[in-house]
Amino acid sequence: MVTLTIDGKQVTVARTATIYDAAKEAGINIPVLCYAKKLLPYGACRVCLVEVEQMKGRLIPSCTTPVTEGMVVTTNSAEIRKVRKTVLEFLLVNHVIECPVCDKAGECDLQDLTYEYEVVTNRFQGEKFDLPTDEVNPLIERNMNRCVLCGKCVRVCDEIVGFGSYSFVNRGFETKIATAFDRGLDCEFCGQCVSMCPVGAILPRPFKFKARPWQIKEVNTVCGYCGNGCTVTLGVKANKVETIRFNDKTGVNDGNLCIRGRFGYSYVNSTERLTTPLIRKDGQLVKAGWDEALAAVSQGFKAAGKTLGMISGARLTNEEFYLFKKVAATVGTANLDHSGGECYKGVTEGLKQTLGVSASTATFPQVEKADAILVIRSDFYETHPVFGMVVNQAVKRNHAKLSIVADKRGKFGKLPDARSLVTKPGLELNVLNGIARVLLDEGLAVTDGVAGLDELKKALAGFAPEQVAAATGVTADALQQTARELAAAKNSAILLAYGLPYTAYSKELAIAAANIAILTGNAGREGSGLYLCGEKANSQGAIDLTVLPGDQGLGAQAMLAAAAAGQVRSLYIVNEDPLVSYPDQDKVKAALAGAEFVVVQDLFLTETAKQADVVLPAASFAEKEGTFTNAERRLQRLHPGITSPGLAKTDQAIFQALLVSLGDNVVYTGTEAIFDALKVGTVYAGIGYADIGLQGAVWGGDHLTVSKQLVPVGGGVTVDAPFQLVTGSALYHSGTTSTHALGPNAVISAPYVEFGREDAAALQLVDGDMVKVKGSGCELQLQAKVDNRLPQGVLFAPYHFASAGLNRLYKGEASVAVEISK
Ligand code: SF4
Ligand code: SF4
Ligand code: SF4
Ligand code: FES
Repeated sequence: MVTLTIDGKQVTVARTATIYDAAKEAGINIPVLCYAKKLLPYGACRVCLVEVEQMKGRLIPSCTTPVTEGMVVTTNSAEIRKVRKTVLEFLLVNHVIECPVCDKAGECDLQDLTYEYEVVTNRFQGEKFDLPTDEVNPLIERNMNRCVLCGKCVRVCDEIVGFGSYSFVNRGFETKIATAFDRGLDCEFCGQCVSMCPVGAILPRPFKFKARPWQIKEVNTVCGYCGNGCTVTLGVKANKVETIRFNDKTGVNDGNLCIRGRFGYSYVNSTERLTTPLIRKDGQLVKAGWDEALAAVSQGFKAAGKTLGMISGARLTNEEFYLFKKVAATVGTANLDHSGGECYKGVTEGLKQTLGVSASTATFPQVEKADAILVIRSDFYETHPVFGMVVNQAVKRNHAKLSIVADKRGKFGKLPDARSLVTKPGLELNVLNGIARVLLDEGLAVTDGVAGLDELKKALAGFAPEQVAAATGVTADALQQTARELAAAKNSAILLAYGLPYTAYSKELAIAAANIAILTGNAGREGSGLYLCGEKANSQGAIDLTVLPGDQGLGAQAMLAAAAAGQVRSLYIVNEDPLVSYPDQDKVKAALAGAEFVVVQDLFLTETAKQADVVLPAASFAEKEGTFTNAERRLQRLHPGITSPGLAKTDQAIFQALLVSLGDNVVYTGTEAIFDALKVGTVYAGIGYADIGLQGAVWGGDHLTVSKQLVPVGGGVTVDAPFQLVTGSALYHSGTTSTHALGPNAVISAPYVEFGREDAAALQLVDGDMVKVKGSGCELQLQAKVDNRLPQGVLFAPYHFASAGLNRLYKGEASVAVEISK
């Protein structure tokens, strides 16, 4: 630690702190423009100049200067103010003054500083910039006439996002921030640069002229999309979410967001939202009141009794999951599940068998300090983009060795020295087994206190690196290097994502990943972890609260089969659109046709809801309170920013009303009371609802204690066909909900099938061509997209879009043999 004096105040800070950090610690405000907590020190703007006695009174930038013992610093004197004012005058020489029409006015750092330092005239005169505004894309507007060259956009896009859209070009007065070849912005549209820009040079277009900052009510809550659980700040005006605000001062994930969190909010304002219950009468869904709808639902459920099947999505709050289970108990059914792909089932069973846990063993920030990272499935960045940004930082700042085992190349593979182990679809498992075999063969494995070693050795007999290389196409050298790096790492991270489109080999992949975690010493070691990352905002909560079949009960897939056979008489489907998102559409169709009484509870009249007997209008995350548990086991509280449209209610309110109509008379005084009830006997037992602050509360602490049971697991099987189709998530979407949002749709609004360049050339395809994809006895018409991510013979189609009908082909396999024609 180092002690220094700032403005007469003694302060003791870490040796690595800068003067700016120390001043902040002491509660002393120093103005900044180019500084940002999460970016590396830069020192471009000189607004933060301070005087240091030991440096002969020279003015130096506080944001880049490290503290030293006994330093005496002055942050505010007439001289300092004069120099800062001159700096501001320089910044304003070419800067257009458009505050009346600039959306940043009212929250612009330059405007605020100009006001504070009374820059009412400018001694320096120059020609104002007159650069064209970049309005090429629908989400981000760039007006470089307002830029102060702080470099934050360049740095955030490179250091955190790892995309690298921008750079400085030209020299002197001609210097500007530009994209490659000065083309319009074409990137992943995470909006991180929007969030970081201190002036009105980079703005969110959907928010343009919607409101002044002081008209906006800010509400901190949790993103409703994926298991990353990023804190989002809703910008609300007139009961409408008009924007998502940047907030790196509070909450989790440093204010980092992806396109879904930053621009995917508009579905909550959609005019297509359900606003009233619907009941089927004479074959038509007609509007009804809640009393009539609930009476019909409770009558139907009572009649079904233990033949009721209940399936939810994983975006309900923990409190809602608790009440959902209570509905099951009250009706008397054990047929209960969440997520019909049952991928969660495989991965949690696999981890339970090996590590004895059903969750990530460590927390996200620890990955930043990792020396080696193994990512299983390249599109991990696409399912969990903000966790992906942590991986970027580990590679760029900590020089972590990154290996990716997947059936296609992804964004991670472009990071410095990243190794992509691209395998034939379905054979990721073989690659993981090959890595385990190298660890054992080369004497790199940690085997003390480990059970099941002999059995594993026997099972790995057929996974020598050369054998794996011949089967998968991943070289023996790549397997060996990966194994050696993981074994040598002090801190390592193994990342495994799961979700609806990743059913195949879920359990086996989790086991194989856990075997590597055990053999490399990752399992149970501080600073290391195996991360199990669920697709949806509360996937982990559903597991923690066992929203699973009871004894003798059926899981989602078995329920669907039983409904088709008339054994499950009624289905209650909440917050999911299985006709679009579950594997095997025919199976879902048959279930909906076979069940006598179907109730769907959702935000929209989804494809599944259209088949229901009763539809109940539910609320979005922006209308809810309660808790989500993210993929690092962090419970966070949601806070409602708006009320639901029309008669729509939160799922919590619907379940409570339904329970009353089913005859359960326990009344909860509020969400906290439900939390207090749900936590009894669960991993949440020690957590108080009121104590869950903006940083959330991690159950089990930063490191989970794990067991170390090696479990043998065989290899996968790949399809032998000229073309095979794999499915999964696309970065811009999450589940089916984001297809109702303008932001993600502005980038990708329609289904597509992606080809590698070699296949596209052989088939004479270009971007936008319509192609026929034939397989599993059906034919889909999809638009072609050509990229360089896919190996020859492998095609990819995202699963989010109802119009694609992808689950007519996909029935849960690792890949499907298909024929392609124009
Ligand atoms: S939106 Fe994201 S990816 Fe695009 S330029 Fe900005 S920071 Fe980079
Ligand atoms: S565009 Fe904004 S963030 Fe980028 S350099 Fe200019 S002022 Fe800074
Ligand atoms: S979708 Fe996931 S990664 Fe993106 S902002 Fe939301 S929680 Fe974060
Ligand atoms: S904030 Fe320190 S130089 Fe810009």
